Amino acid sequence: MEEIINQIHNLKKQRNAIILAHNYQRSEIQEVADIVGDSYALSKAAKEAEHDVIVFCGVHFMAETAKLLSPQKTVLLPAADAGCPMADMVTPADVKTLKAKYPDAAVVCYVNTSAAVKAESDVCCTSSNAVDVIKALPQHNIIFIPDAHLGDYVAKQVPEKNIILFDGYCITHKRVTLKEVEAARKVLPEAKMLVHPECLPEVVAKADFVGSTAQIIAFAQKHLDDKFIIGTEQGVLHWLQKHNQHKKFYLLSPKLICPNMKKTTLQDVKNALQNNTCEITLNENVMKKARVSIEKMLMVHA
Ligand code: 13P
Ligand code: SF4
Repeated sequence: MEEIINQIHNLKKQRNAIILAHNYQRSEIQEVADIVGDSYALSKAAKEAEHDVIVFCGVHFMAETAKLLSPQKTVLLPAADAGCPMADMVTPADVKTLKAKYPDAAVVCYVNTSAAVKAESDVCCTSSNAVDVIKALPQHNIIFIPDAHLGDYVAKQVPEKNIILFDGYCITHKRVTLKEVEAARKVLPEAKMLVHPECLPEVVAKADFVGSTAQIIAFAQKHLDDKFIIGTEQGVLHWLQKHNQHKKFYLLSPKLICPNMKKTTLQDVKNALQNNTCEITLNENVMKKARVSIEKMLMVHA
């Protein structure tokens, strides 16, 4: 392990590269990364990076977003087949159909979408800023794609808007049940429960705090309680446990593992830096249109 980590550090210097890793990545990937964060923080980091190469340890739509914000940089996705099933649930044709059905509605796309879907949308959002992005829009009717659970959560926070939901979902967060929530509450009644808004609405309704991965981490870090039940992917436990050794963290469900997020290995990172594996390339026209929806999001939430 030490040898491969040294090789990665050397290659990184040679190529003037930065490694970005999502909070759900394996522990060893988070350790080798320059920046670990949620999808919002990583989008910003990609935009601001002064490096020639970005190695994006996450899933495909995240690396695409980095490319949209940094078109002049080489963006590499070390695990070529790391996708997000939720992002694959909506197509540009679906968005066109919805726009024709609701012509006065604004289309807000979750960042968990392809660049081609972003290109058909008015504005993008992440789980950390969806409420603010929607509140800032002048339109009353909002088409929210693709996550019906995040959409439902936002609709409850912004009751003054009419949110038209799509039927997408995260296969990992959807598996957490109300029964598991009740069981966790019984075993650990004193613990705070922090969940991601991609969970089912009945799970979200029982939480003490709802937020993006970075917001969940920040909440647990800041609050004085010493026990937390974590309702998002297992990867967030790495940072939490490392930096809060006097606190205890419990995963809400053993099913909270995203197989795509776990695909990236140290060997993949080394290969990416050595052989440019899975370089992200995008159609110029799609890039131009999709970038507008992300830049608009960054204007609301800089
Ligand atoms: P965050 O935006 O909270 O990092 O989440 C991304 C994601 O894919 C959640 O499943
Ligand atoms: Fe996609 Fe869910 Fe994995 Fe996030 S956890 S990348 S939404 S499948």
